[in-house]
Amino acid sequence: MQKPNAATKQQIKRLRELVQEATRVAVLTGAGISAESGIPTFRDAQTGHWSKFRPEELATPEAFRRNPDMVWRWYAERRSAVRAAKPNAGHFALSQLETSVPNFTLITQNVDGLHRRAGSQRLIEIHGNILRVRCFGGCVSYADWVEAEARGFTGRQGAASHQGSTGHQGATGSAVPELGSVPRCPECGDYLRPDVVWFGENLPEAGIEQAFTATEQADLFLSIGTSALVYPAAMLPQTAVQSGATVVEINPEETPLSAMVHISIRGTAAVVLPQLVD
Ligand code: OAD
Repeated sequence: MQKPNAATKQQIKRLRELVQEATRVAVLTGAGISAESGIPTFRDAQTGHWSKFRPEELATPEAFRRNPDMVWRWYAERRSAVRAAKPNAGHFALSQLETSVPNFTLITQNVDGLHRRAGSQRLIEIHGNILRVRCFGGCVSYADWVEAEARGFTGRQGAASHQGSTGHQGATGSAVPELGSVPRCPECGDYLRPDVVWFGENLPEAGIEQAFTATEQADLFLSIGTSALVYPAAMLPQTAVQSGATVVEINPEETPLSAMVHISIRGTAAVVLPQLVD
């Protein structure tokens, strides 16, 4: 079995050189980069979400229609975990890298918002953000649901007062929604849902277009902490290889990508990435 941090000095040295030489860098991150912040990945055996739950029961529009309470509750628990977590050294290293590379794009599949909290700005969240909540029918969206709740908006049907189309709260008084009841849209009465991309849904068009453009133009592409199994995100490193970028993977485990990239570093994000920027 591979050691979790088996990155060689030679590999780190080479990667540092590549970073220093590159003018256009694109980075794809997955759940692995937040693992060292205590947020479970999806597919790791034992700890991954999908080792305990079936995605089709929690992460599809059909699942939400079938059992909105259960889906809402699962996301509410994940939202609390994300709020309690802190960005780790890997997140901070990437935000530092952004300031030293002329053209830098960070593409993340993560919905936890930890890159933004670490200071990353040139960031594309292709699978959405768990803190944002929007109407299932599409009329309103709340940039930070926890904050909206804290200000008193629970969205209970008949209780919320309408104050506009985005980011407002009704005066219901209660900051904590009763367990198992899904808040309602103040505009149309439909359910509110997490603003994340579920299986079977399209990715935000502008975001994925930008992600592919940055990938095609990159001279260095880093794939960090992703199993590279979910499309279209998994197409990005493949596109980078085809477009002539040097592609580097950072992951404690082998993935389908490992055989196709130029350098595959067996290490964790919070250990390897700080060595590129110190
Ligand atoms: P996965 O759970 O599929 O893969 C996580 C990867 O991170 C694995 O390859 C691990 O080996 C690696 N890993 C674990 N700990 C790490 C660490 N400390 N540092 C670096 N790497 C580490 O997660 P994703 O690839 O992000 O989609 O999954 C892709 C998508 O599938 C998610 O965005 C989500 C999920 O279903 C949706 O919800 C639409």
